[in-house]
Amino acid sequence: MWKHLKCVVVLFLVTVSTPPRAETTLLRRDMEKEVSKYLSQMTLREKIGQMYQGEAGYGKITPPLRERIEQGKIGSVINEVDVHVANELQKLALSSPHKIPLLIGRDVIHGFRTIFPIPLGLGATFDPELVKRSAQIAGREARASGVNWTFAPMLDVTRDPRWGRVAETFGEDPFLTSKMARAMVNGFQREGDLRHREAVAACAKHYVAYGAVEAGKDYNTVVVSEQELRDVHLPPFKAAVEEGVAAVMTAFNEINGIPATANIYTIRDILKTEWGFQGVVVSDWASTANLLGHGYAEDGRDVALKSIQAGVDMEMVSTHYIESLEWLVQQKRLPESTIDAAVRRILRIKTLLGLFENPYVQPVTQPYLRQDALRTAHELARESLVLLKNENNILPVRRHKIGKIAVLGPLADAPLDQLGTWVFDGKKEETRTPLVSIRSLLGSDRVLYDPVLTHSRDQSKSRFEQALGLASGADITLLFVGEESILSGEAHSRVHLNLPGAQSSLVEYLSQRLQKPLILIVMAGRPLVLGKEIEWARAVLYAWHPGTMGGPALSDVLFGLQSPSGRLPVSFPRAEGQIPIYYAHKNTGRPPKEPIPTMESIPIGAPQTSLGNLAFYLDESTDPLFPFGFGLTYGKFVYDSLRLIRDRIQSNQSVDLSFRLSNIGTTKATEVVQVYVRDKVASLTRPVKELRHFQRVTLRPGEEKRVAISLPFSALGFHNPQKEFVVEQGEFEIWVGPHAAAGLSRSFKVDQ
Ligand code: GLC
Repeated sequence: MWKHLKCVVVLFLVTVSTPPRAETTLLRRDMEKEVSKYLSQMTLREKIGQMYQGEAGYGKITPPLRERIEQGKIGSVINEVDVHVANELQKLALSSPHKIPLLIGRDVIHGFRTIFPIPLGLGATFDPELVKRSAQIAGREARASGVNWTFAPMLDVTRDPRWGRVAETFGEDPFLTSKMARAMVNGFQREGDLRHREAVAACAKHYVAYGAVEAGKDYNTVVVSEQELRDVHLPPFKAAVEEGVAAVMTAFNEINGIPATANIYTIRDILKTEWGFQGVVVSDWASTANLLGHGYAEDGRDVALKSIQAGVDMEMVSTHYIESLEWLVQQKRLPESTIDAAVRRILRIKTLLGLFENPYVQPVTQPYLRQDALRTAHELARESLVLLKNENNILPVRRHKIGKIAVLGPLADAPLDQLGTWVFDGKKEETRTPLVSIRSLLGSDRVLYDPVLTHSRDQSKSRFEQALGLASGADITLLFVGEESILSGEAHSRVHLNLPGAQSSLVEYLSQRLQKPLILIVMAGRPLVLGKEIEWARAVLYAWHPGTMGGPALSDVLFGLQSPSGRLPVSFPRAEGQIPIYYAHKNTGRPPKEPIPTMESIPIGAPQTSLGNLAFYLDESTDPLFPFGFGLTYGKFVYDSLRLIRDRIQSNQSVDLSFRLSNIGTTKATEVVQVYVRDKVASLTRPVKELRHFQRVTLRPGEEKRVAISLPFSALGFHNPQKEFVVEQGEFEIWVGPHAAAGLSRSFKVDQ
């Protein structure tokens, strides 16, 4: 009898979604009355006008734009960043019959004029607080230019580095992405004080599962299970909604056959009904019109009907709403109440921003690149750098013990590419490159420089010999390689993730001929496939695209002014054929175990089943080259004496643990401690590990610290087939460690 009962699974329905924070919820009684008043005074045509976002004139007001505003046929403009023109647009809107100010939108993804590391690099910092600060600064600079709405944070989770937009994500993990979601929303929206003169409305995008595009090809098909949707792709958006994000942008992709921009289930059922989202749902750039391409709408009227019925409140740039919604209402195919509901959300955001009281921006002197902005960009760039290899502690470079240093490669002095993708307002003239920073640290006379290649895709080897000659006169060579910024970002997917052009040959050429150490620094918008290049170099530092202050940051770390602390927000593949490759994978029924065959080890004429039928590859390891969370420092950290406060957890009890962390190295450094959990047996198969906590711990040489961590009971949960978030009883495992592939572990049980 008991043996049957043992397998009975008791579900704890855990109310884990924290209710939206009171001070950030978008519903405020006093403002709702105002919104109702404006709504009641508007004609149907004026209401529909609010649902259209049109392209601005990029510094001038075109006659058609002026006419639309005067006639109340537009509720928002995109891409106006001249504060005087923005104020002029607002004046026009207030002189229109309904006097409703404009939302002025812009992609402020990782900085406005001060450019921070690309979001993948921000993810590598594992430092939400500092990332929040970057969003505050970006909001301040954007607002100063007249922008009051940013289309960020991008919260797509992806496990496919072929996809160009991996550069814009915070990586492969929903927990890390959710932490960054909360940070960015509160940074842009000033902790819910949208009337703050430096606040901008944030926009969580791209809703939803855009990061799961098949084959990493942008805009491609997405087929995703309910469980993956609920446990991987939705959590960051839920976190943003809980923090009071003002808007959500729908994605270009379809989800299981229904385009995200016309998906009633994800928009109306989950976002608006289940989560109670009260902000604006805006389409992506003409993603409504793309329903025609998807073969999901017959014509413009069908586009408008399906999009508004799904819950898209505002159409970006394409004009099906302003062309067809009035007709649909007149034909009784769409109740006017649906229009009212959409316009209410739009007016709500304008009210929360205080635009009715004052839509104008007082121009300020020198709003950009202020000292605090550059300091934050410098600090974030430094924290984003991930040290992948450091043979015999060749880094940091002991600058007082060497004479000349060679700085080579097409990314050593590439001010535009260093800024990364999704930069519209950053100016390359304001970038501090590694070459400039190293020259200022060491003195130009000690720095021997040659780009060797004109850009990352340059195939020419004509300057290799000259570069070798130059480097031969140096005590150490820093080789800066990677991707131009154009090789990642929207619509920039790649299937070969190697170093483009002749860069790999350059690494090999120098490593085989240089007598002195070769250090590799990689700037890229994605994890590249770098097997042999890692072997050829004595040390490898991954810099993503580090932004305006990438040069000083790299100089600090390379010369030991600061220890690297960045950790990988994505797994690094050994080969494209492993993709999708990520740490939170399932165990399968036949996990690989030694000995794992290799192409070389298979006997000639081996019998069909002689190699063992397990989940491995014949020609490549199943492990990543570098795991999620990996990163070296100049310290040496030891984890020991892991203790669980209790090894039987009752419902709603926290999981409390502590361990000792020691820095037995000779340099002060920061460790990103990570905690992973696994539900060993459940009503659905569970990942072998899931990140549930991380924190940065800085220790001096010889210092040790007892680190105590408490995980909420919800850290053990998942969505079951009935879409309920549950924590099931049974055995769990927990790890603390430096990355997803190492750590101390303990088991514990969840009881009744
Ligand atoms: C683009 C992007 C989206 C961006 C929007 C406005 O196509 O997909 O991320 O915010 O258009 O530029």
